[in-house]
Amino acid sequence: METSWAHTTVLLNEAVDSLLGESPQVAAGSARTFVDATFGRGGHSRLLLQRLAPQDRLIAFDRDPEAVTAAASIADPRFSIRHQAFHALGELPPASVAGVLMDLGVSSPQIDNAARGFSFRFDGPLDMRMDTTRGQSVAEWLTTADVKTIAEVIRDYGEERFAVQIAKAIVASRQERGPVSTTTQLADIVARTVKTREPGQNPATRTFQAFRIFINAELEELQQALEASLNVLQAGGRLVVISFHSLEDRIVKQFIAKHSREVVDRRAPGWMLGSAAAMPLKALGRVKAGATEVAANPRARSAVMRVAERVVA
Ligand SMILES: C[S@@+](CC[C@H](N)C(=O)[O-])C[C@H]1O[C@@H](n2cnc3c(N)ncnc32)[C@H](O)[C@@H]1O
Repeated sequence: METSWAHTTVLLNEAVDSLLGESPQVAAGSARTFVDATFGRGGHSRLLLQRLAPQDRLIAFDRDPEAVTAAASIADPRFSIRHQAFHALGELPPASVAGVLMDLGVSSPQIDNAARGFSFRFDGPLDMRMDTTRGQSVAEWLTTADVKTIAEVIRDYGEERFAVQIAKAIVASRQERGPVSTTTQLADIVARTVKTREPGQNPATRTFQAFRIFINAELEELQQALEASLNVLQAGGRLVVISFHSLEDRIVKQFIAKHSREVVDRRAPGWMLGSAAAMPLKALGRVKAGATEVAANPRARSAVMRVAERVVA
């Protein structure tokens, strides 16, 4: 079922400008291929299509079937959408892509739809899968997961101090009252367990974030897609990644640093004359949303966009 909820695109112009850059293909007039790895409701894709040349093409990915359905509203022969997790961008031909954009996390239509189970604000089934056609929901996982595993997930992906206490409370509730199968049940268990609240934050925020990241293997997906992008980007191609929390941003930052730092081999003859190994990426910087955007869209506050350029094919 398609939802009617809208998604306000974050860093729209900044991301599209960064993706297009000044690639040499523009001057040559040859066709370029861009990838929007996280279509969502297509905010970035639509602006990008306005700015692309007639011979260019845009391949979008989204693992959410509702996002793929929404993409049918784009009637542009240069555009295509794939219902796949974005690590699959690695299946594109090597050095064939002029820009890869990832706008990570969940869209507003996903969060605001109670039936998807992403939010403690709405009562719904505890699902949280981005791809509802495969995999286990959080409720299914919680029917058998043990305290240690649940605590590790909450600690590692939610950076929650009370991870062990919450995990114990979930398993105790399961044993006493049956499966934890709704968002409200989970939010209530966490609220009863976490006594000290962070100002302005629901006590269940960290646990919900942790379960969402875990059930969708979000960090593994990101790492794989970054590696894949190195292979598919052509020289001069741009990598643009928008993150919404520190776990994601750390992965992106470390990936760009690792592949753009010059490594001088001091054992190589003449290293003092400049025998640094050629690195595949050049870091182009980090961008945050401005005050006007944050005022209009509070979700933009935590967004961090990192940009890098493929320098050698
Ligand atoms: C923040 S939204 C993107 C919004 C989009 N830029 C727009 O302006 O409408 C993130 C989207 O990426 C999708 N997504 C997240 N992780 C994914 C992955 N590993 N593979 C494919 N799609 C993913 C989600 O389903 C969601 O629709």
